[in-house]
Amino acid sequence: MGNKLVGYGAYLPSRIMTNADFERIMDTTDDWIVTRTGIRERHIARDDETVVDMATIAAQRALENANITIDDIDMVIVATTTPELDFPSVGVQVLGRLGATKSQPAFDVRGACTGYIYALHTARAFFTAGIHKRIMIIGAEKMSRFIDWTDRSTAVLFGDGAGALIFEHSTSSYSGIIDTVVMADGDGYEMLHGTENHKIIMNGPETYKRAVMSMPHAARYIMEHAGITADNVDWIIPHQANLRIIESCAARLDFPLDKILVTVDKHANTSGASGVLALAYGFESGMIRHGQLILYPAFGSGLTWGAALIRV
Ligand code: ACO
Repeated sequence: MGNKLVGYGAYLPSRIMTNADFERIMDTTDDWIVTRTGIRERHIARDDETVVDMATIAAQRALENANITIDDIDMVIVATTTPELDFPSVGVQVLGRLGATKSQPAFDVRGACTGYIYALHTARAFFTAGIHKRIMIIGAEKMSRFIDWTDRSTAVLFGDGAGALIFEHSTSSYSGIIDTVVMADGDGYEMLHGTENHKIIMNGPETYKRAVMSMPHAARYIMEHAGITADNVDWIIPHQANLRIIESCAARLDFPLDKILVTVDKHANTSGASGVLALAYGFESGMIRHGQLILYPAFGSGLTWGAALIRV
């Protein structure tokens, strides 16, 4: 059984923190941040604003976009690495906030920055098995909870936000989530991980090296599997970690830069929310149109990496 995209929604906290704001609190410059990362600003949630709050607003907007209610959804999968509570899951809390009454299943997946690809992969499996008819995928992160405001090498990289996508079953096998691949390699722990006291430990150059190998690897796998080339793809939406990584991946894949959708300048790295937010931004800005083919590679802590092919 195939599937198709029927709704999207996004939420970004209203507080915007620019590079100039960082210049005021640490030894950094707008020029360093823009040159090394392409990031100009990021949205930072209020102290009392949670991952569940952001996920719920994005989910509500996706439901409105699809013109349905939460009880029309058969399953909710949330990609998040930064929930305030270990339990219950963000997915179940979103069901509660939206007043669901159908006892539909909801759960979270932790794939770090590859989380939304893990969520898409999981949804594809349920569609293929014919178990669920309408699945909502949410990517939601409050990365600012993990920011060490004294560490200039990581603090400037991240932002908060949430995005939601709704897919429903369809008889076409060449729409919606067409294909996905997810991979993991447990040797990456030292390179990039969070700590118990909510700090990010990152070897920047090593992370960069692995990112520019992994994302093209997953993208090539998907293109070979689908029998397509870069020419057939309308947009590539890479995980929005940093512009230099995105440009290097594009060069390795021989992808023209004008087919690459970039939001990292405005959102910074929102981890498991990044690709979902970027797709919603692409629609809202009129860059992405229904019917287009999107290649979606991502890379994250773990290591995890993967890609999806979606016709929107
Ligand atoms: N402002 C000014 N100087 C800084 C800053 C900053 N914000 N951060 C680091 N520096 C300094 C360092 O202290 C270092 O100074 P030193 O030479 O005096 O010791 C200097 O800049 C160079 O540091 P490098 O780490 O060599 O800089 P590099 O060119 O590697 O760029 C960066 C750093 C941007 C982090 C790069 O390694 C990178 O892009 N890595 C990928 C990391 C990433 O995107 N992580 C996101 C999470 S992973 C994910 O989403 C999958």
